Amino acid sequence: MEALPSLPSERILVPLLAVASAAFVAYIALQLPRWTHRISRRLLSSLPKSTAKEAAFEESQPVIVSKELDFPSDWWTSRKLFELEKRAVISKTWLHVCHSTLFKKAGDYRAFQIADFSFFVVLGKDGRLRAFHNICRHRAYSVVTKSEGSCLVMRCKYHGWSYDTQGKLIKAPKFEDNQGFSKSDNNLFEIRTFIDSSGFVYANFDVYGSDGLTIRVGVPIRAKLTLVDSWGVEANFNWKFAVPSGAFSVSSLIYLNKFAELLTKASGLFESWKWPTEFELSPLTRLMRSSNGEHWLTITVIPVSESQSTIQCSFYSSRTDSKAALRVTAVKQEIDDSIQKLERCFTIVSASDEIPDAASQEPLLAEIKAHSRLERLMGGEVHPASRMRATSQACKVADDLCRELELAAHEKLPALNGLDGLAW
Ligand code: FES
Repeated sequence: MEALPSLPSERILVPLLAVASAAFVAYIALQLPRWTHRISRRLLSSLPKSTAKEAAFEESQPVIVSKELDFPSDWWTSRKLFELEKRAVISKTWLHVCHSTLFKKAGDYRAFQIADFSFFVVLGKDGRLRAFHNICRHRAYSVVTKSEGSCLVMRCKYHGWSYDTQGKLIKAPKFEDNQGFSKSDNNLFEIRTFIDSSGFVYANFDVYGSDGLTIRVGVPIRAKLTLVDSWGVEANFNWKFAVPSGAFSVSSLIYLNKFAELLTKASGLFESWKWPTEFELSPLTRLMRSSNGEHWLTITVIPVSESQSTIQCSFYSSRTDSKAALRVTAVKQEIDDSIQKLERCFTIVSASDEIPDAASQEPLLAEIKAHSRLERLMGGEVHPASRMRATSQACKVADDLCRELELAAHEKLPALNGLDGLAW
């Protein structure tokens, strides 16, 4: 039986349908990403606020990049490396400590702890703020044992050695009549301090460090600003994970505080409260100011160990009503949430040996490598905060040599190939 010849309309319709189908599929393929994006945005906006904020936070997380060969595999977890960081970076960097408005009258003091450094700031009778290592010159007991207080004579509880507000030893029971004993040789060890034009107080543990401090705070703080609250939160992550995200150099103060950066993105706090201005007070501290200039918040990441930090916060306000206290409560909650998110991030990163945003960590690595090289040249550990370096002419000469070698170590840095031979 002969096949029926196809109708002319059929011959036209089949290719037309094929073309139409192909065009439809292409249209769908083109539109699908747009539709998906719209749907996901609608879904995201329909989520409860906190969930949407968490999604935004996840988006803001740094992209994990391949591990740099220069970084040791235990960059986040090494105790030995943390010890080196204290000598190489924390001992040599200008660090924000507090605000000068905390000290009203002579004798007012505040005690602080950064890494192993226990010290206090006290207002002298001469109206000058000074910082001292909290170490009695007799047997190294703590001179002040409270976090804050006020006294014109600080008496060590152990054997009664007493110091005035300028750190001078004024009483040393049973020692004063000893031949060869000199009170003036046993004053408290002073730490170099600096107060910027906004009244923030900085300290540098390096005995012979540079005084060339450049402060980036450009907006003066109101004179009536008072501390509303100050608190610390323990955080289970390495300080390097929270701090450096910009150029890190001991000789410069151009830093970003990654913790505050993430906090801002994560919480939306500063968006809703209109906190448009942020400053880097030091490598470890970020300052935020409300747009009306009424409120200021400092967030400091204090290194505690290779796996722990303390997030120290201070909230200042020109208002003394209940509104300021209410805001502090909200700030505390946001900061707690952000710390928990960072802790979860750190758990993943530290287990994988990855270096998120490795480029931002490289300047810090460079400082550590330079100091490590210096220690190799010196044949032992170099402690910039060690007061023994300043106690005799011989030590001064050794220290000058140390400085020259330090510069040499920095100059030779680009020629270093990896960390081979460096004592981590
Ligand atoms: S340790 Fe301070 S007086 Fe003895």
